[in-house]
Amino acid sequence: MKLACIVGARPNFMKMAPILRACEVHEDLETTLIHTGQHYDKSLSDVFFDELQIKRPEISLGIGSGTHGEQTGKLIIELEKTFLELKSKDALDRVVVVGDVNSTMAATLAAAKINVPVAHVEAGLRSFDRAMPEEINRIVTDSICDLLLASEPDGVKQLEKEGHDAASIFLVGNVMIDTLMQQLERAQKLDTLQRMSLDAGGYCMVTLHRPSNVDEQPILEKLVDVLVDTSSAIPVVFPVHPRTQKKLEEFQLLSRLESAPHVHIHGPMGYLDFLCLTSQAKVIVTDSGGLQEESTVLGVPCLTMRENTERPVTVTAGTSTLIGNDSDKLQVHLQQVIDGTYKKGGCPQLWDGQAASRIVDVIRNHHA
Ligand code: UD1
Repeated sequence: MKLACIVGARPNFMKMAPILRACEVHEDLETTLIHTGQHYDKSLSDVFFDELQIKRPEISLGIGSGTHGEQTGKLIIELEKTFLELKSKDALDRVVVVGDVNSTMAATLAAAKINVPVAHVEAGLRSFDRAMPEEINRIVTDSICDLLLASEPDGVKQLEKEGHDAASIFLVGNVMIDTLMQQLERAQKLDTLQRMSLDAGGYCMVTLHRPSNVDEQPILEKLVDVLVDTSSAIPVVFPVHPRTQKKLEEFQLLSRLESAPHVHIHGPMGYLDFLCLTSQAKVIVTDSGGLQEESTVLGVPCLTMRENTERPVTVTAGTSTLIGNDSDKLQVHLQQVIDGTYKKGGCPQLWDGQAASRIVDVIRNHHA
């Protein structure tokens, strides 16, 4: 079977890496890796190919940034051309997409319209917040895929509620955790903490990049104040996403962070340095979806700067608490972490490092 595997933005790379590896052991599977170029900076893209030893994409589309309409439009045009060409060479039986970024949705639309079946890895997640671009991407993608591969039981329930055929839904577990488990030992051997003069279990790791947190000055300003306050109790490590960097500069907030003595500002990090830091943090403060999951598996408290989550198991079973952008609530929970009274979490079902082989089994059993 000939698969086109689509990646575009940072979180896609750690999800696709184990799937590509699991495909390699089956002689009946051939993969064409297509990189849309939604993310193009080395620090958001190439570094993950190198560290996770992902093969170089056979096809790179170089789409780049833009408004949602612009970017999605360009993605659909180029992906459709690519799929048609592969089809004409009899080199495309199925498209595989992961996650919820614009590339995920665009690839699904382009493929489904020319009758190429699509498998969606991470199907069924819903925040019920349509102000988030990812929620729209998830709904559209799931509605036209023929294989819905869910990472958690809530995803399965949601897909059933939406009326999807039960025969198209599979609980396969969390493929991002496959990568985490494969790389953890290697990451923890790095000297990242020493280089930054940090003690294991003695710092707060922060990531913020959601438009709802970083695009408006009053909200971002409040978050910066909270981080500076927090740094008087515990050192804060903050690798800054390009979107956030731009906004911090535009709102003249960067200097406030840079001048705080215990805030370590950093550019976007590679997977291994980042995992080295998150796995040994005392607490994580984030608005990232993937990090809510990773912190749950690592057993590190995660204070999630969002009003809602499409990954409820990280709150009900894991280590995450939804904080929104309520700085008082953040302080209360940070104090619990420091006092050792913060809740303990457990690992969700099938987040066991074996999701990719289950995904590949489902795909092989559904040769259209
Ligand atoms: C995208 C995804 C988001 C994901 C995030 C992970 C969508 C709708 N959003 O958000 O779900 O959590 O990636 O990082 O798909 N930029 C660079 N270099 C790059 C790419 C972007 O500097 O390589 C800058 C550009 O100025 C761009 C901005 O970052 O305008 C935002 O990039 P974009 O891909 O639009 O969205 P993200 O915020 O990265």
